[in-house]
Amino acid sequence: MTAPGGVNHPVGESHVTLEHVTAGQHVFAVQGDLHLTTMSAADVADTVEVQAVDPSTRVWEPAILSTLQPAQHFAGREGILDDLSKWAKRVRVQDRVVALVAVGGTGKTAVAERILRALPKNRKAGVFVWSFYEKPQTEAFLRATCDYFCGTTPVTSGGLLAHLQQGLRAAELPHLLILDGLELVQATGMTGKALGELEDPLLKQLLRWLASGHGGRARVLVTSRFPLSDLSDWEGQGYRSILLVDLEPAAARSLLQRRGVKGDDQALNALAESVHRHALTVDVLGLYLNRFGGGDPNNAPQFDLSTLKSDQKGARLTRVLESYADKLPPGERDLLARLSLFPRGVTVEYLRFIIGAGHHVAGALSDYGPVQLLGMLGDLHDLGLAFRSERQGGKHVLGPPISTRLFPLPPRHN
Ligand SMILES: Nc1ncnc2c1ncn2[C@@H]1O[C@H](COP(=O)(O)OP(=O)(O)O)[C@@H](O)[C@H]1O
Ligand SMILES: [Mg+2]
Repeated sequence: MTAPGGVNHPVGESHVTLEHVTAGQHVFAVQGDLHLTTMSAADVADTVEVQAVDPSTRVWEPAILSTLQPAQHFAGREGILDDLSKWAKRVRVQDRVVALVAVGGTGKTAVAERILRALPKNRKAGVFVWSFYEKPQTEAFLRATCDYFCGTTPVTSGGLLAHLQQGLRAAELPHLLILDGLELVQATGMTGKALGELEDPLLKQLLRWLASGHGGRARVLVTSRFPLSDLSDWEGQGYRSILLVDLEPAAARSLLQRRGVKGDDQALNALAESVHRHALTVDVLGLYLNRFGGGDPNNAPQFDLSTLKSDQKGARLTRVLESYADKLPPGERDLLARLSLFPRGVTVEYLRFIIGAGHHVAGALSDYGPVQLLGMLGDLHDLGLAFRSERQGGKHVLGPPISTRLFPLPPRHN
């Protein structure tokens, strides 16, 4: 191993000296406040050479390892979509880590999905999509990224981060990573750690390393309910946090109209305002009025203001979801409840198996034959409550945005 001279890189206010240690093809950054991972000789020996492809000539098929659930009636957000699409396409970017931050249901994943969809088909660099909702394990994440970006993966877990870092930096390509639902691996503020702090040190190191520009041209789009407090030193110098706000009035009206709600601008504005123009709530409200209220805003659920003093947005969402779930036919309700148990999707065959297990497992669904089941799944697809994901071999993936929030709900009052 040789150890050429150190290089100075700005890190927040201070400077950290990084030493680049070369071992054959492997270059690792070691030492400094960043605590970058080193890779032992044993780890290097453990590395499995799966393929040796020149990254600059490789055809980079996107690695969409998780489904970003689309908003069926996406509306608004023109500015942010334009901004982030350009950011994703640029060869070099200032903001290597961009986080979309907002409470659940604001539309973060929907925006990320639109960015992904708008990427040029012949992008000459990698695209890697991972949802921490589907898989919160850092090791699985690092293994998948090594596989994809390096074509080789260390056998032991110790060298994963260093291996990935080496692969990203050596390629100097504008790789894009989309990490959805990072809040799943961030502290909630109840465990002694600060709100938003990443629970896993390796993930923290990786994001800091990327933000500080050591990952070459690679960039990351993160969605999270919490700001990335570990990156606050890089704010404006490699890290950008975008607080996603609720839908603009015109977008909220458009969403209601596309759900089939009728009324003039004033009526639709008032309806959207009653739920803070929170995207998910507006969408379920539209769905509710369409299916059970004749499309008339006057039939919207009433809110008991005395019970809505704190967390008004959350309370209103719950109220709208409850109203909706309460009106569902028993079979549909029981199908949704069972689908919500499978965040990674479930096949029709498995649903049939559940039905076959009888009423105590399948509830009202046990009365449904195969044709009725397919019909009901088709209806859910049309409503944007479930969809088939090709990535998962035709499984019926439940749209977590609406459906997983519908269940578990308090028991139905009969
Ligand atoms: N821009 C939008 N236009 C229309 N509906 C939206 C939009 N953003 C979100 N929604 C609705 O809200 C739901 C939740 O959005 P999602 O992106 O999953 O929220 P988050 O990731 O912030 O929790 C979507 O499934 C859709 O029903
Ligand atoms: Mg999301």
